[in-house]
Formats: sequence, C-alpha cells, structure tokens
Amino acid sequence: MEIHLEDVKITDDGHLSVRFKEEDHTGTFPPGFLQEHSYSNGHLALKKQATKINPEHVGVVPEVQWSDVRDSEESLYQCLKNINEHGLCMVRNGSIDGKLVEKFALKIGPIWDNTYGAVWDVKSQKTPTNFGYTNKEMQYHMDLPFYQAMPGIEFLHCLRFDATVEGGQTLFLDITDIAENFRKDHPEEFNILATIPFTFARVHNDRDYPINMVIRRPIIQLNREHEVVAVFWNPTVTGALQAEENEVESFYKAYQLFAKQLYSCQDKEMVVRLQPGEIVIWNNRRLVHRRNAFHGDGDRHFRGVYIDICEYKSRLSILSQKYGDGSSIKRVGNGDWF
Ligand SMILES: [Fe+2]
Repeated sequence: MEIHLEDVKITDDGHLSVRFKEEDHTGTFPPGFLQEHSYSNGHLALKKQATKINPEHVGVVPEVQWSDVRDSEESLYQCLKNINEHGLCMVRNGSIDGKLVEKFALKIGPIWDNTYGAVWDVKSQKTPTNFGYTNKEMQYHMDLPFYQAMPGIEFLHCLRFDATVEGGQTLFLDITDIAENFRKDHPEEFNILATIPFTFARVHNDRDYPINMVIRRPIIQLNREHEVVAVFWNPTVTGALQAEENEVESFYKAYQLFAKQLYSCQDKEMVVRLQPGEIVIWNNRRLVHRRNAFHGDGDRHFRGVYIDICEYKSRLSILSQKYGDGSSIKRVGNGDWF
C-alpha cells in the first residue's frame, strides 16, 4: 500500500508533524528521533565521532567511593561512565566481605559464568593449574579470548594484600589506542594482523572439567571503513597458526612487532596496587592487563567476576539517559562502533 502525506509542518516546540492521508493519522517526530534515523553523511560522521575515545582520557585512572556506588544509582552511573571514557575505574574504601564483588557486579548485570566459575579467586597455590595462580610476572593479556564472546567487564576485588608482599601490582594499557598507532607506524604489519586469523586455544585435560576451546580470529578487527573495532591479545593461550605456508613468517614478524609496540608504550601504562577492600573494574575488550611478580612473607588474594559487554552497555545507556546527557557510548571493543 502506498502512503501519501497530506500535511507536513514544524510544530511550535520544534517537532516535525506529519499527517498521513490514507491512515487518517498524524505522527509527531522529535528532533532527536530524526537525527537518530537520519541517513545524511554529516549526521553519520557526527555519530561516529561521538563514539571515538578521547586520547586525553587514555592513561588516567579515575576513582569512586564504595559507599557512594553502594547507595546511589547516580554514583554507579559515574563509575560506568569512567569505564566508558578511561577503560577502567577504581572503587576505593570497600570492605573485605567475600560477597562484595558479586553484590557490586549484580548492580550492573548478571555475572558471566564460565569454565573457571562465575566467581574465581586469584591466589598463589603450591601446585598451580594456571599461570595466574603462581606469584610470577604475567605479561599483557586479555582474559579468555578463546571464547567467541569473551568477557566484557572484569572486576578484581582485593580481599588480602599484605604490606610485606613486594610487587604484585596490576598494570593496564589501552590496546585499542596502541593498535591505531601501530597502523601509522607499521601499515603492512597492521594489515597482516587485521586479515590473517590467529589461533587462540585453551586445551587443558588434567582438571575436573576438561577444556578444549579453539577459535581463529584476526588479532585486529576492522569495520568496513577500516576502523579498529576490536583487538584480541593473549600470548599464553596460543594454538597452531592455520595460515598458508607463505604467510607464516610475515605473520610472526608482525606479531612480534606488535608485542614490541605494546611494551614500548609503558609511559601510558596505568599502575594499580590494590589495597584490601578495593575493587578495580575494567573493560577486558579495550585494555590489556599484566601483573608484576610478587615475593615476601604474606598473602595476596583477589576475587574476580565478569559481566558481558552487552549487559554493561545496556546499563550504561539506561543510566546515561536517567542521570547524564544520554551521550554516546564509546567503542567498547565488541566489533561495532557504537
Ligand atoms: Fe588476567
């Protein structure tokens, strides 16, 4: 059925009013709705620009107080906004209640269950089954990139970190920012990492619940305008490269070069030494993290949970409309640009 317009006008309050002939119906469209549905290149460019990360926000660790986020939804919005802008947020002055991190995560979304459990502990063990359970240095990585939908937001709550323990800081770096710089410095290698799939694999039979997870994906994911919309990085969960023979050498050269670039950006690194009761929350799809080795008499015990990136985006979007200006969510590393 064809629809014809009988009358079109701008109302006194700036809305577009359209009267449809066949349906005997008048529709009123506010300017925000029209901009959202506009196909003009100018509006599209503005929308895309609004989702880009402000370089001035990279490398800054914002913080909120636990009592504020516990009692006020508006403070929770501030915490999520900090993660949106900076990639992470510190929550100061919490308690060492073992349930605290779950309670907090549930204010944002359901906890993401996985093969390591919905709630997991990071504590050095005498016979570790995972590198995370040692006291050794850990290199830059994202958690669980062998899952198709790897975790989005990661929480680490410090239950114990004795002053006698030396080292053990957690360090963060914005890998999306690094990838953009890598494109400028090494365009050919950038293109290799954006096209040849890398193999992420976790194969571990000697545990109660054996794992055999393998996924191939390029390390750098681009959209059709060749913008970086996701990066995947974890050298400790590497499977056999399934590339053509003539690609292998150039792939590994590009891979090494990217690793070098990561470690040459330590001036942008954000260093956190958690105190008991504190929680650090970050976007596991935008930041890589590493850990310094730790030594000395005493204990270091963290408890962690994840939530899905879509749950976080949804909660932030709702709170932004309620307490903020409803402004765009920055790129979160989910393969989309907003
Ligand atoms: Fe980790």
